[in-house]
Amino acid sequence: MASFQFIAAVLFLVAAVVFGGSNAQLSSTFYDNTCPNVSSIVRGVLEQAQQANIRNAAFLTRLHFHDCFVNGCDGSLLLDNADGIESEKDANINRALNGFTVVDDIKTALENVCPGVVSCADILAIAAEISVNLSKGPSWEVQLGRRDSRTANRAGTTGLPLFNESLNVLKDKFSAVGLDSTDLVALSGAHTFGRAGCLTVTPRLYNFNNSGNVDPTMDPTYAQTLQQTCPDPNTPAGSNTSTTIVNLDPTTPNGFDNNYFTNLQNKRGLLQSDQELFSTSGADTVAIVNRFGNSQSDFFTSFAQSMINMGNISPLTGNNGEIRLSARSASVIFWINLSSDGLLICRNYAAISVCGCLFVIGYCNSDLSQLYAVYVSGAVLVYASNALGSDLGCCRGAGVVSKPGWSESVV
Ligand code: HEM
Ligand SMILES: *[C@@H]1O[C@H](CO)[C@@H](O)[C@H](O)[C@H]1NC(C)=O
Ligand SMILES: *[C@@H]1O[C@H](CO)[C@@H](O)[C@H](O)[C@H]1NC(C)=O
Ligand SMILES: *[C@@H]1O[C@H](CO)[C@@H](O)[C@H](O)[C@H]1NC(C)=O
Ligand SMILES: *[C@@H]1O[C@H](CO)[C@@H](O)[C@H](O)[C@H]1NC(C)=O
Ligand SMILES: *[C@@H]1O[C@H](CO)[C@@H](O)[C@H](O)[C@H]1NC(C)=O
Ligand SMILES: *[C@@H]1O[C@H](CO)[C@@H](O)[C@H](O)[C@H]1NC(C)=O
Repeated sequence: MASFQFIAAVLFLVAAVVFGGSNAQLSSTFYDNTCPNVSSIVRGVLEQAQQANIRNAAFLTRLHFHDCFVNGCDGSLLLDNADGIESEKDANINRALNGFTVVDDIKTALENVCPGVVSCADILAIAAEISVNLSKGPSWEVQLGRRDSRTANRAGTTGLPLFNESLNVLKDKFSAVGLDSTDLVALSGAHTFGRAGCLTVTPRLYNFNNSGNVDPTMDPTYAQTLQQTCPDPNTPAGSNTSTTIVNLDPTTPNGFDNNYFTNLQNKRGLLQSDQELFSTSGADTVAIVNRFGNSQSDFFTSFAQSMINMGNISPLTGNNGEIRLSARSASVIFWINLSSDGLLICRNYAAISVCGCLFVIGYCNSDLSQLYAVYVSGAVLVYASNALGSDLGCCRGAGVVSKPGWSESVV
């Protein structure tokens, strides 16, 4: 039995190396054989998270966007700081992001059912769709098969749009990732739910464009209401403004609908980047805002298509990247050799190098102190250790022999 499993593992791994290199397209059926319940598992976690905090739907939707705009939809946003990794999370524009612990919960739930199969990049794509659906927005067929990056790109976060950028800059940033004006307007419609910090609107309320006045493209009554919630941060009354939040959609703050667009038509967009879509004279975005404002179903159809477009930004497929075992850390890659006496020798190579015929993938905590897992033919063997040196112990056949002092259990 053990040798059968071993041979199966060898064949599988060789096949993965030989055939895994093609640049596969994403597809909605990617996990049909390997993790058929992926969607209902993610949905279960998100339903619970929604009950605990209604804001989670917006959090998760935004995470997919912030992932896709930096190096493509590759889960790079989720990596914590580590050796050789400057996390994207720590970039200013990402500091207010939330929902990372929900992603951890989803990852754990999936690892329990289909270990090592579903990428974190795909988790973000699925979670965005379900979050929108749970908020009574549109549904779409999520395209799947992305793999996870092994690095983050903090400097690349400058590709994300800012709340105070001109419409031309916003268009350029979308166009840089292959998205057009319709995508820009439709996707901005995600601001139909969620919150923003007061500091993203106070420049419009107190000193727009250094004029000392309110942004003329903001409805005065709406401005007055916002001024009450967000007092001028340069006055004593505004001492808490930096921590206060406001609804992005003042009419239906938690529901996914087209009110965002009717708000823009009524000069009630919260962010400068929102209102510009409608108030920039001569812009091609104006007609699109009107179309979505007049027809929720037009908005829903376009939003669904644009989410698919956004989800297609430079995914890693085939042999590129990996399926991370933890959302927050890249795996350590172990290459293994088959030695003359039939033992598999495992070694930890920090970087992938072409040395042997097969590989297994494991991971350790980012402090390299606690855990690593080895996949052999679907079985996960978990070791606990106090220190992870360069020599990680040995594998024998399909099994794994623990090093002295290491405890072993099959999960
Ligand atoms: C067009 C360019 C965009 C700009 C300039 C922009 C900017 C912002 C800003 C400044 C906030 C508030 C952050 C804070 O203060 O905590 C925010 C929130 C949000 N954004 Fe965007 N965003 C854009 C596009 C998008 C897209 C494409 C999506 C998703 C498809 C999205 C989804 C969200 C969501 C759901 C929130 C609410 C998050 C929460 O409740 O904490 N945004 N955005
Ligand atoms: C998939 O989920 C359904 C219900 O959510 C459950 O009945 C079924 O057993 C699950 N299948 C697998 C393979 O886990
Ligand atoms: C949400 O998705 C479920 C399952 O796919 C579907 O039955 C339901 O109609 C969707 N809800 C909305 C509001 O579209
Ligand atoms: C946009 O806001 C940021 C602060 O969040 C500020 O540093 C930057 O100068 C502003 N840019 C413009 C064009 O106003
Ligand atoms: C800001 O003010 C400058 C100079 O007064 C003007 O040229 C520019 O169009 C203004 N920008 C906006 C967004 O109103
Ligand atoms: C700011 O918040 C603190 C703590 O909640 C509160 O005591 C204080 O009155 C607030 N200041 C203003 C100006 O609202
Ligand atoms: C694999 O075997 C080759 C040839 O014996 C050796 O040079 C290489 O260092 C071995 N690699 C590992 C990971 O043990």
